[in-house]
Amino acid sequence: MFSFLKKSTKKTIPNGHVPKIKMTGVYKTFGEKNVLNGVDLEIKKGESLVIIGGSGTGKSVTLKCILGLLSPDKGSIKIDGEDVLNMSPHERERINKQIGMLFQGAALFDSMSVWENVAFGLLQGQKMRKKAARAIAIEKLAQVGLTEDVADMYPADLSGGMKKRVGLARAIATNPEIIFFDEPTTGLDPIMSDVINDLIVSCVKKLGATALTITHDMASARKIADRIAMLYEGKIIWIGTVKEIEKTTNPYVRQFIAGSATGPIHISAKE
Ligand SMILES: Nc1ncnc2c1ncn2[C@@H]1O[C@H](COP(=O)(O)OP(=O)(O)O)[C@@H](O)[C@H]1O
Ligand SMILES: [Mg+2]
Repeated sequence: MFSFLKKSTKKTIPNGHVPKIKMTGVYKTFGEKNVLNGVDLEIKKGESLVIIGGSGTGKSVTLKCILGLLSPDKGSIKIDGEDVLNMSPHERERINKQIGMLFQGAALFDSMSVWENVAFGLLQGQKMRKKAARAIAIEKLAQVGLTEDVADMYPADLSGGMKKRVGLARAIATNPEIIFFDEPTTGLDPIMSDVINDLIVSCVKKLGATALTITHDMASARKIADRIAMLYEGKIIWIGTVKEIEKTTNPYVRQFIAGSATGPIHISAKE
């Protein structure tokens, strides 16, 4: 009845206390396999949160649930306080337009030039004109350290590090409020990894975006994160700052940081 009132209060209440992303009791099973077993996680606005965990622990599944590429069996996911699991596809699309994503392996379109890859969201999502989109693509390429001559090259012509840079430029092209990074340093040597980590930090800061990164690379986590959360057996078993993780006595976290084969974490040879 008072829908007009609801609308106006929504605008006037400062939403600083509303987490940018909030997952509550999220479960996801594939066949017999319980991958997510009640994930609870809050990411604050403007925060850079990194989820660590071994391979096959459900890091990518978590990200895909937030993006709406997978539907959880149970639980709630909110973005800016809005329940994104029970939305119309149209509403969901509106939410996803504020999200940028750097996929594992960069996932560039081989048939498109570098600038068209970077401008993809501007051309397709925002229907921007080619000339304006190209100008933004070149600006974003510069931000990740690539010169204009790279714009007309094709992904096949690029090294692994350059592909990641282009993927990063694409992730930031639409000035998203949220950016997801899936294993941003996988397949890169330690020096290139560090370059990419620095670029991620500077790009996220420049946008003032909220960032969620998933990785098994502790060096990357230390560099990128405000807070680190560890996913194990389908749950967030520990969360804290970079400083706190160095001092934690949690045996699971300690074993993961040390990269040790001995400890409470049992690695299945199947993963
Ligand atoms: N679409 C799917 N169908 C069936 N099993 C899946 C699917 N996606 C992921 N899995 C399984 O879920 C588990 C977690 O996967 P994933 O989230 O990709 O792990 P990681 O932590 O390495 O990113 C793995 O055992 C994987 O085989
Ligand atoms: Mg993964």
